[in-house]
Amino acid sequence: MLTSNSNKMEEKIRFELNGKKREMLLDPNLTLLWVLRNKVGLSGTKYGCGLGFCGACTVLVEQEAVRSCMLPVSNVDDKKIVTIEGLANNGNLHPVQKAFMEHDALQCGYCTPGMIMNAVGLLLKNPEPSQQDIIDGMDDNLCRCGAHVRIIKAIQTAAREMKGGK
Ligand code: FES
Repeated sequence: MLTSNSNKMEEKIRFELNGKKREMLLDPNLTLLWVLRNKVGLSGTKYGCGLGFCGACTVLVEQEAVRSCMLPVSNVDDKKIVTIEGLANNGNLHPVQKAFMEHDALQCGYCTPGMIMNAVGLLLKNPEPSQQDIIDGMDDNLCRCGAHVRIIKAIQTAAREMKGGK
C-alpha cells in the first residue's frame, strides 16, 4: 500500500553546512529553507514570503547571498552553505552581527538573520561599499520596522572593522 511518502523520490545530497559535512537522503525538490528549518533544525533562517521577494531566508552558498526559499536543495549538492548559526567564530560574533547589535539595527528582529547574511555577502563582494552601494545591495531585503538607517550604519561599521580599522 502506498503511504503518503512512498512515491517521493529521494536522493543522497551532500553539502557542507556551517563547516560540517553532511549527507542527507532528501527529496531533491525540497527547498533549502525547508531542509534547514525542518530537517536540520536550524530555525535562524526565516520564512517570510516564500517567493523570493523579502530576503528573510537569505543564506550564503559558496559565499554568495541567496534566497533559500527558492532554491531546490539539489542545487546545493557539493556546495558550502553558511547560515546565521554558522557566522560566529569560536563564540566571537561576526563583525556584521556585532555592528547590528551596536547600532540597534533591528526592531522585531524577524528580518535580521536575512539582513545580516545579505550584508555579509555584500561585504565579501565589495569590502569598501559606498553608502549607495549598501542601499542598492540591501534594497531587496525588506524590514517592516523601518530600521534601514541603522542597518546602513551597522554595515558601514562592519566594513571598517573587517578592513582592520575601527
Ligand atoms: Fe525567501 Fe521571502 S522568504 S525571499
